[in-house]
Amino acid sequence: ERGGMTSCRESSVFYLSWMLIIGGVVLFWRQQRVCALYGRYAPGQGHCWPAGLAWFLQEVPALLTPLLLLLWTEEGSGSGTGTLVLLCTFVLHYSYRSLIYAFLTRGRPVPLRIIVFSAAFCGLNGFLQGHHLLHCTHFHHTWMTAVRLAAGWFLFLVGLSINIHSDHILRNLRKPGELIYRIPRGGMFEFVSGANFLGEILEWCGYAVAAGSFPAWAWAFFTVCSIGPRACHHHRDYQQRFEDYPPSRKAIIPFLL
Ligand SMILES: NC(=O)c1ccc[n+]([C@@H]2O[C@H](COP(=O)([O-])OP(=O)(O)OC[C@H]3O[C@@H](n4cnc5c(N)ncnc54)[C@H](OP(=O)(O)O)[C@@H]3O)[C@@H](O)[C@H]2O)c1
Repeated sequence: ERGGMTSCRESSVFYLSWMLIIGGVVLFWRQQRVCALYGRYAPGQGHCWPAGLAWFLQEVPALLTPLLLLLWTEEGSGSGTGTLVLLCTFVLHYSYRSLIYAFLTRGRPVPLRIIVFSAAFCGLNGFLQGHHLLHCTHFHHTWMTAVRLAAGWFLFLVGLSINIHSDHILRNLRKPGELIYRIPRGGMFEFVSGANFLGEILEWCGYAVAAGSFPAWAWAFFTVCSIGPRACHHHRDYQQRFEDYPPSRKAIIPFLL
């Protein structure tokens, strides 16, 4: 028992969590040389699908998998308040990303292999987080659990608000049908070039604080490795693209990096 929580040591959970960590390290290392090939870095040629459909298809497995697991889980087994709060947290993010963001995006078409890879990845991660929460975790009612859940959830909500607000700012830089880039202004973009990424990183760190589990921290770590370097690439891209880019703006951590 740790910090008011019991957690099983199932091998599938262990291996999938390590997969996230190793995948994160590989992605981080790879992005030191080349950025993930979608959005502004997508290669001109190759089979691409419209952005809205792509984001829906690639993110919806992370929404459906935990919900299906919840449906198949017998009532009473593992469905304590802590578990349900965390499951709602995960589902809330992916409801936004797959059902709202996907239908509002004005982004460029996404390469098919990115969609296939991301959909498989989201399904596996949805399974890992949902399975661990529903079948492996039991929160005990102690003050420490309550404080940790509240602090983590607060951080998650701050991150989600920054993420949604920053997505809104980026979307409104374009008229429908346009594919050009402009300098984002307002909100956390006044401090960093990757405000949407900063929001998402805060979200998953909050989720990990609240869950306090290996799979949740592995997911937060993967997110940092995946979109942290992307924020740095965007920052350099803005500096090269715009002569009047705000000089005090950092890449991903306000005032620091
Ligand atoms: N948890 C994870 O590991 C993970 C991984 C990837 C993404 N995500 C999340 O998914 C969301 C989208 O990611 P992303 O990599 O696509 O973000 P992004 O590169 O910042 O692009 C977001 C959207 O805004 C548009 N855009 C970006 N900068 C713009 C500018 N200066 N002017 C006009 N339009 C601009 C993009 O269009 P274009 O497509 O035409 O560039 C795209 O539609 C983010 O919130 C991110 O946190 C999470």
